Amino acid sequence: MLESIKEIELKFHQDISHAATTQDLEAIKVKYLGKKGPLQDLMKELKDVSQEHRPAMGKLINDLKGQLEKTLSEAIDNLIEIEEDRALKAEAIDVTLPGRAKTLGRRHVISHALEEILDILISMGFSVEGGPEIDTDYYNFEALNFPPEHPARDLQDTFYISSDVLLRTHTSNIQARVMEKRKPPIRIIAPGKCYRNESVTARSHVFFHQVEAIYIDKNVSFSDLIATLELFIQRLFHKEIKMRFRPSYFPFVEPGLELDIHCLACNGAGCPICKHTGWLEIAGAGMVHPEVLINGGIDPEEYSGFAWGMGIERLVMLKYGIRDIRIFSENDQRFLNQYSSL
Ligand code: PHE
Repeated sequence: MLESIKEIELKFHQDISHAATTQDLEAIKVKYLGKKGPLQDLMKELKDVSQEHRPAMGKLINDLKGQLEKTLSEAIDNLIEIEEDRALKAEAIDVTLPGRAKTLGRRHVISHALEEILDILISMGFSVEGGPEIDTDYYNFEALNFPPEHPARDLQDTFYISSDVLLRTHTSNIQARVMEKRKPPIRIIAPGKCYRNESVTARSHVFFHQVEAIYIDKNVSFSDLIATLELFIQRLFHKEIKMRFRPSYFPFVEPGLELDIHCLACNGAGCPICKHTGWLEIAGAGMVHPEVLINGGIDPEEYSGFAWGMGIERLVMLKYGIRDIRIFSENDQRFLNQYSSL
């Protein structure tokens, strides 16, 4: 029996030395001190030991049991401490490491261009108006002299929300609103997003930005329109830029025109941005149609005015030689970061 006691002790210490986790130690505890463990067996065998040696053997077994329990609980405490230590070290902060720089958000190149454009127009005497992107057929079309079912509506493929409510196709939707709430002289600009149900290509998108300008007063003339546009473009590009005015049709102006400017990307030689024409159309404009003035409660006998709607993406593409309008809304950091100094 003495042999068995020694052997159990030896095996126990071998097992303990291999235990790496508290689970291992729990398993050893069950193995040696559990009901089916070797100590339990020895206790049963005690009855076969002579009366004389039984008390001493009993004591030896009990001592071994106490010793195993003590060793086990110390080992468990030890391991827990090591594990806690490891966890603490894992989450420790190394204050000597260099910090991670926070990247700052910045204005989009379109927002920046809009600000620049507004600054120039404000310095020329215009004040800024806002208008809804979701609007009624009345303000987007009817008040602007597009009669119902008029084919001119097809010129501006529209996203309809219901038969009467739509995403505005141009910033001209603010024209009648402004006339309804203000009396001339009116000299306002209105920047914002517009939407058209067209196929997306390098040159056109389903959403884009425009800046609308409206000037209504006594004796506003066609030459005021031309002079204002010329001065604005000159200030925007900080130099003399070749421009051309082509007659065009919009139901809400008479006469109407389109403004082209010389393609700066290719210097007029022809490139994909200008569709190889050397010119880029950047705005529709004209003298406010008398019907539109009447719809806005203004007497066309007394007042006249001009209006224009300018495409912002086009201007920015021209200014920076950007060849694809889609890139403005793709959120590609490699593109956006090129304008980080703006
Ligand atoms: N709203 C027209 C467009 O979207 C542009 C325009 C505005 C034309 C004002 C004339 C006067 O193309």
